[in-house]
Amino acid sequence: MSATEIVYLISSVLFILGLKGLSHPESARRGMHLAEAGMVLAIVGTLVSGKIVTWEWIITGIIIGSAIGAAMAIFMPMTAMPQRVALSHAFGALAAVLVGVNEYVEKSNLNELTNGLMGALGFEVLFGALTITGSLMAFGKLSEMITGSPITYKGQNAVNILLFIAAMGMFVYLIFFPYNTIIFYSMIALSLLIGIFIVMPIGGADMPVVISLLNSYAGLAAAATGFAINNKVLIIAGALDGASGFILSIIMSKAMNRSFANVLFGAVGSAQVDSSKLAESRPITRFGIEDTKFVLEQAERVVIVPGYGMAVAQAQHTVRELSDELEKQGIKVEYAIHPVAGRMPGHMNVLLAEANVSYDQLLEMETINPTMDTVDVCIVIGANDVVNPAARTDKSSPIYGMPIIDVDKAKTVIVMKRSMAAGFAGIENPLFYQPNTKMLFGDAKKVMQELVSEFKKV
Ligand code: TAP
Repeated sequence: MSATEIVYLISSVLFILGLKGLSHPESARRGMHLAEAGMVLAIVGTLVSGKIVTWEWIITGIIIGSAIGAAMAIFMPMTAMPQRVALSHAFGALAAVLVGVNEYVEKSNLNELTNGLMGALGFEVLFGALTITGSLMAFGKLSEMITGSPITYKGQNAVNILLFIAAMGMFVYLIFFPYNTIIFYSMIALSLLIGIFIVMPIGGADMPVVISLLNSYAGLAAAATGFAINNKVLIIAGALDGASGFILSIIMSKAMNRSFANVLFGAVGSAQVDSSKLAESRPITRFGIEDTKFVLEQAERVVIVPGYGMAVAQAQHTVRELSDELEKQGIKVEYAIHPVAGRMPGHMNVLLAEANVSYDQLLEMETINPTMDTVDVCIVIGANDVVNPAARTDKSSPIYGMPIIDVDKAKTVIVMKRSMAAGFAGIENPLFYQPNTKMLFGDAKKVMQELVSEFKKV
């Protein structure tokens, strides 16, 4: 075994340990560092393996790549994480396609295009190209550069399937006749088009599922690159990426109670309601800071349910301060975390970890729900869809069947948000009109700060 292969083996082990670490919030940071170390080793191993011809290009690439990566990490806010991830996939897939094209040109000039190599290269550029445009479309939709609503037309699924069959036909043809350059480049062009077409009908709310699926494609393209250029660490890392992206897509679909096919072909989201029209005439109970403090002081057990609004307001630190104040008064405080609260998997866990909330206080939906009727006060901070009881009761609701946190079963529910506006699903929430629900309007951070000051007054 050569020194490079040993380095690759160590980095592969580090990737696997990194993934294992990411399975729990407590070990996630360590997992990330292990994966980073693995990546550094893989890069250094490749650089010193002697295959690099022009260092100028490598250094230029490192400088440009690091500058883009650093700018994205520094300037893009946490709430824009899904679109940031989408952009990264587009870059990853672009790299795979460029390597694939380069390999194709080189090997075809040397007359060394075997059928097996063409299979790997074809797979790499086919999935890579559709991941580039698909990810860019996802980025555009999530950052609202293009409409987040599904773009649909009659016979769309049939057109998409036909385009895919055509691309697969070219792929199979190339395996047998690898030197047909026109077909090779036509397949890339068609794949680029497919990427746009398959993401067009998918609504913004489903985009995180699509992004992790594209992540999986980018991983598969990278694994194919590994086969094409005979790089083992790329095969392993690509396979890990492909599998984890796919598993994550399934977990997210499940948490939204949607089938994979429904997410990909359902064009869900077109019937979005104008949220300004949701403020209907049914009465609601408004609460002020003092009322809220009074109710909280009477409680023995308080459960905080964070959602997307807490992320937007960056209220996690103030939320932690409030729970400190409550605990000082002997009140038990817990956090109920919904798997798709916010806009990316683990969104709430990341924010609460940043505010040093103890992991023991974080309870999953399945753990908290059976005990919800013993909770004195539930504080819902900027969450909406994930606490919408219509998911349990209203068969006509678009989110019917999605598991939710049953905050409506608590003795008192305090909902903190700015208005009666809808959440991501764009639908009415009957929770707000329940007799045990009190609406505390305002920006989550500002309201929380006022509440904490009220507690500190005494
Ligand atoms: P949402 O249902 O999107 O509701 C968030 C609420 O926060 C809004 O109703 C908004 O009401 C409020 N808000 C916004 N800014 C605020 C601020 N500064 N202060 C206080 N409140 C604020 O969020 P959720 O309950 O977390 O549900 C997540 C949604 O995203 C679900 O539909 C889920 O299916 C979808 N989704 C999530 C994921 C992942 S992986 N997390 C993936 C795909 C889809 P106001 O405007 O009235 O303040």
